Amino acid sequence: MRVGLLTGGGDCPGLNAVIRAVVRRGLADQGHSFVGFRHGWAGVLEDNAFELTLSSTAGILPRGGTILGTSRTNPYADGRDGTAAIRETLSAREIDALIPIGGEDTLGVAQRLHEEGVAVVGVPKTIDNDVGGTDVTFGFQTAVQIVTDAIDRLHTTAESHNRVMVVEVMGRHTGWIATHAGIAGGADAILVPERPFDVEEVAAHLRARHARGPSFSIVVVAEGATPREGTLHTREGTATDAFGHARLGGIGVALESELERLTGYESRVTILGHVQRGGTPVAFDRVLATRFGVAAMDAAVGGRFGAMVGVRGTQIVETPLAEALREPKLLDPELFRTAELFFG
Ligand code: F6P
Repeated sequence: MRVGLLTGGGDCPGLNAVIRAVVRRGLADQGHSFVGFRHGWAGVLEDNAFELTLSSTAGILPRGGTILGTSRTNPYADGRDGTAAIRETLSAREIDALIPIGGEDTLGVAQRLHEEGVAVVGVPKTIDNDVGGTDVTFGFQTAVQIVTDAIDRLHTTAESHNRVMVVEVMGRHTGWIATHAGIAGGADAILVPERPFDVEEVAAHLRARHARGPSFSIVVVAEGATPREGTLHTREGTATDAFGHARLGGIGVALESELERLTGYESRVTILGHVQRGGTPVAFDRVLATRFGVAAMDAAVGGRFGAMVGVRGTQIVETPLAEALREPKLLDPELFRTAELFFG
């Protein structure tokens, strides 16, 4: 079997571990070969690819980013129909199956191709942990660890200066990173997209905390968190990508000044941004990514196209792409209730 791979959307620690695992699983049986497309769907549309072999995938397990490169290219943007160009490349390269590794957008394209008869097996990827069909995505634990380390560091300087530290983290639709890292780092408030917030309430909460003793606070805010209508003015009119997503970032800046104004406590914002996606994956993500890669190759060899691999509990599972992508996996309310117990 000849298998094509691509990585699309935002990069994520563990992508290289998946690529290596697909190749290694395939080479363990006789006769499989691999092609890596560069820069997501752009590489398939433009037939920009190279052979993936034992040697070209050696030593990449702990490396962040993706050796394939990535992009947010959408073969169906602006009414375009990229299926014919994709088919042409796959047939010219005699590719029997494609394994796209990506989040909701990349896998949405994979699902459309599957409906049109292209042999695909999806691998979910996102530090945001918001793809359905899996309990967790690789890259998430790494991001949570990076944010937790940052919160630990912010604690000591917050305490020294009696400041409110606002920490803005990634999380476009969901507050998984904010909540996990907030619990791990002992945040005093966590603001997530699933629960529109009222800045007056957050300020009242901080005042109550400071009134009972502590003279500093840590507020973790997901970039996609939104104020209840009319309660806080945030940046508008940012550019959108080929999948129509606005570029986020900036809620923390608005919160910094508004919390300072409402409470009188000196405040500072730290926007962690792409630091959360960079660098080497933690061991958990390397293992999960490796298992996903092996499972994706097994699904391809087994002809189980249109499936996405994932994990439920400790077991690797396959879910139809259409089902996995139906809606984003929102934060578990029970987990958020646990986080709330420690606010203030
Ligand atoms: O991959 C998901 C994500 O990290 C989101 O949390 C974030 O909104 C987005 O990607 C940022 O994308 P870009 O790298 O294009 O700025």
